[in-house]
Amino acid sequence: MMIVMNIGFIREESNPMTAIPSVLITGASTGIGAAYAERFARRGHDLVLVARDKARMEALAARLRQENGVAIDIIQADLTKADELAAVETRLRDDARVGILVNNAGANVGGSFIEQAIDDVARIVALNTTALVRLASAVAPRLVEAGEGAIINIGSVVGLAPEFGMTVYGATKAFVVFLSQGLSLELAPRGVYVQAVLPAATRTEIWERAGTDINTLPAVMEVGELVDAALVGFDRRESVTIPPLHDAAQWDAYQAARQTMLPGFAQVHAAERYRTAP
Ligand SMILES: NC(=O)c1ccc[n+]([C@@H]2O[C@H](COP(=O)([O-])OP(=O)(O)OC[C@H]3O[C@@H](n4cnc5c(N)ncnc54)[C@H](OP(=O)(O)O)[C@@H]3O)[C@@H](O)[C@H]2O)c1
Repeated sequence: MMIVMNIGFIREESNPMTAIPSVLITGASTGIGAAYAERFARRGHDLVLVARDKARMEALAARLRQENGVAIDIIQADLTKADELAAVETRLRDDARVGILVNNAGANVGGSFIEQAIDDVARIVALNTTALVRLASAVAPRLVEAGEGAIINIGSVVGLAPEFGMTVYGATKAFVVFLSQGLSLELAPRGVYVQAVLPAATRTEIWERAGTDINTLPAVMEVGELVDAALVGFDRRESVTIPPLHDAAQWDAYQAARQTMLPGFAQVHAAERYRTAP
């Protein structure tokens, strides 16, 4: 009897993710992250919520615990601060129950590039790219070791559109798309699913925080609809999910056009148009 119990214990310890994994969500105090928290709690996942506003996370956690009977931990952290980010990295590295990371925390800054203060620019780059990739880096080796798990990175359609005029924000979101596609190629064969989610304008506080009146936007998706659609993509194991894109063939054509160029990059000589007369 003793031996059977021990074997059972060892099995459970060595592969804790065979149970429903915990989900660590950054930017979980409001908006898209809070909606992810609600949806994953409804699916029976325990949660780790990360953001700066502890009171808001506590209120959300209390409601979700009561409604869904799940366990919820809170980590108060400003992900632009190295020591606070490190605490979240440690949790991801060490807590074998966490099998899904939702890299959602993000921000924008208003104005054109020459109007934006250099420290604000650096802050959104740190939050939208450095924190995101450090958290992915903290969790990925453990997920690969387990041969299962998922990383959801929240990008934006702005990352596909320099024309939208949100240059630094868009550049950080282009980073998210590239990183996610590359990680998907690296990690999917090792059993780890990586998804980039690209929302367009969604009704959250991000607009007001960056000084934009959301009512001036031509079309705005409700946050619940956005996250439900993103989770359809998640359940289908899509590598890139763009909830507002109605014609999926457009994305496929865009990827195909990009891939057409790849074999031509290996060249000894510059293209004809760049050759100077001898
Ligand atoms: N809403 C849209 O139209 C839209 C469109 C495309 C992509 N996105 C992306 O979706 C993600 C979520 O944005 P949202 O629209 O839900 O925005 P939001 O309502 O402003 O929420 C942002 C979340 O990130 C957290 N956060 C902000 N700065 C942080 C920091 N320094 N450290 C830790 N947490 C921080 C905020 O919590 P605290 O303030 O409590 O820290 C909040 O929970 C972002 O990556 C955003 O770029 C949004």
